[in-house]
Amino acid sequence: MRYGIFSDIHSNLEALDAVIQAYQKESIDKYLCIGDVVGYAANPNECVERIKELAEVTVAGNHDWASVGLFSLDFFNPEAAQAILWTEKNISHSASTFLRSLKLLYEEEDFILVHGSLNDPGDFNYMNDEYIAQRTLALMNKEICFVGHTHFPGTFIQEENQNLRYSKESLIGIKRGNKYIINVGSVGQPRDANPTPSYGIFDSEKKTFELKRVPYDSKETRKKIYQEDLPLFFGERLLKGR
Ligand SMILES: [Fe+2]
Repeated sequence: MRYGIFSDIHSNLEALDAVIQAYQKESIDKYLCIGDVVGYAANPNECVERIKELAEVTVAGNHDWASVGLFSLDFFNPEAAQAILWTEKNISHSASTFLRSLKLLYEEEDFILVHGSLNDPGDFNYMNDEYIAQRTLALMNKEICFVGHTHFPGTFIQEENQNLRYSKESLIGIKRGNKYIINVGSVGQPRDANPTPSYGIFDSEKKTFELKRVPYDSKETRKKIYQEDLPLFFGERLLKGR
């Protein structure tokens, strides 16, 4: 089975469409989204409609829940909160219903999906150091946990001897006995100094995960952000990827 696994679209329709087109060349059996469909950019409704059609499962991101009143704005910086309030005001009834329906976790035989971390998933912790990785690893009864949220792709690998390391390799071979926390990065707002959207492919037979990138028209997304009452910074950073 080949899975298309991606995260953090953040209402960036141009990036999402570029990723969907790239996936179409990859013979994917099932698409899974790790949350934050909305927030930051100007096309929340269009992105939700695309995701509803494409992804078999989407788990909840902090922006998804905050945009429908299920997560407090107190946890966001003022600019992010402004984007969430804009999204709340501009979101359609059907998109709002979809975001409300999202659950925090999804699991299959080999893996689990969560937006932030497995410890208190509703707190949306960032998977950005060994301490938080250890807490998730201790709760994992699968060999892989796929996450998003940091917008920074990379993999924590716990080897059979309990040694923990971090890899930025784009191709990861899954070895029996190891555990993996794989961050798929972000479609709509990459922050790893590479502005191109990232998207993942997990092959459950070959036991590989590959992270890919595809260019898109970020200036068009920036233009739309400028035309709305959204912080300009969210348009600027799309061109820099940080
Ligand atoms: Fe996000």
